[in-house]
Amino acid sequence: MQRPLLFTPFKMRGVVAPNRAVVSPMVQYRAVDGKVNDYHLVHLGKFALGKFGIVFTENCAIEPRGRVTQGDLGLWDDGQIESHRRLTRFLKQEGSLAATQITHSGRKGSTPRSFDKPGELGPEGAGWQRWQVVGPSALSAGPPYSDSPAALETDEIEAIVTKFGAAARRADAAGYDVIEIHGAHGYLLAQFLSPISNKRNDQYGGDRAGRMRFPLAAAKAVRTNWPEHKPMFIRVSAVDGAGGWDVEDTIAYAKELKALGIDVIDTSSGGLTGLSTALPVKRTLGFQVPFAAAVKRGADIPTMAVGLILDGPQAEAILQAGDADLIAIGRQALYDPFWALHAAQELGCDPNFGLWNPEYGWWLDKRKNNLPDAKKR
Ligand SMILES: Cc1cc2nc3c(=O)[nH]c(=O)nc-3n(C[C@H](O)[C@H](O)[C@H](O)COP(=O)(O)O)c2cc1C
Repeated sequence: MQRPLLFTPFKMRGVVAPNRAVVSPMVQYRAVDGKVNDYHLVHLGKFALGKFGIVFTENCAIEPRGRVTQGDLGLWDDGQIESHRRLTRFLKQEGSLAATQITHSGRKGSTPRSFDKPGELGPEGAGWQRWQVVGPSALSAGPPYSDSPAALETDEIEAIVTKFGAAARRADAAGYDVIEIHGAHGYLLAQFLSPISNKRNDQYGGDRAGRMRFPLAAAKAVRTNWPEHKPMFIRVSAVDGAGGWDVEDTIAYAKELKALGIDVIDTSSGGLTGLSTALPVKRTLGFQVPFAAAVKRGADIPTMAVGLILDGPQAEAILQAGDADLIAIGRQALYDPFWALHAAQELGCDPNFGLWNPEYGWWLDKRKNNLPDAKKR
């Protein structure tokens, strides 16, 4: 039997993902001072035991002002590097690529966790305090976000570009194999791209080329500070969900990113205004896959598909259709941390638990003989 594409290695520069199943970045709000702790090690470590080819951390802020909440991970300070090293060591020891996502929240910073009551920044009594958020223009993203973001000065934009580069250097020192810029979901890069949030009339605003100037500068700074042999991704919102930025814009942007040496476009959508991180449309299975396919074909660049991809056959069909090169799994990985191993069984390429760590697999294979036919797996 031919090996499913989902379990075919994927080479990116000098780095090889053992399979195409990726844990999507998912913020947990558990960090103190932006450092990785035991919670993150166990939370992300279990996905490596579950044999995802690439395990992404949640978004890591490049400066404290760029966090979404005070519980976010960070890569803004050299003092945070050692805590990340503990995590990357474990992920790599178990055979996954260790990946991180770096971000600036812009006008969507200083917000409550998604499950907090409206208006609450964090746990009562935890001393969480709001901070002044910034954006391309002094325009709010609407409730629950700050109603008074400050427009960034030119020198502040240049300083943020430098901080993206410094965060990439720290990510390398921390041992990550893959870096991704979070350029989607209405965070700072996406705020610059959309004419709805970017009303600047200097070189960072105006036409599409002007609005792309800051995101491209940030991408270039990361590529320059990130080793040549390691791959770099960027997450985009293929459409901003508010009617200001569409797929054609994204394809033009992806061509520029490709020219800068970006290896994979992680194709999400929406989030410019309001709470949702995706389009205000019905979320059907694989609803963002057409965006990954359009960018892959339109800009001739590898893409990662994400959004309501639930099982092995669905993931394999996306890859077989040539719509994407990698499959990111978010909530389904929270539901089933062993998603990749279960997908391999669904696709019939691991009948004897050979992909599992032997400490689990040897026992599960033996157990199979004791199971009634209807329950055999
Ligand atoms: C708990 C949680 C936290 C998330 N945090 C991030 C994040 O840090 N960065 C990001 O780009 N997307 C984030 N997302 C979006 C996911 O990466 C993913 O794109 C989205 O959940 C859709 O995929 P799914 O249907 O497989 O969950 C988060 C999603 C969830 C559920």
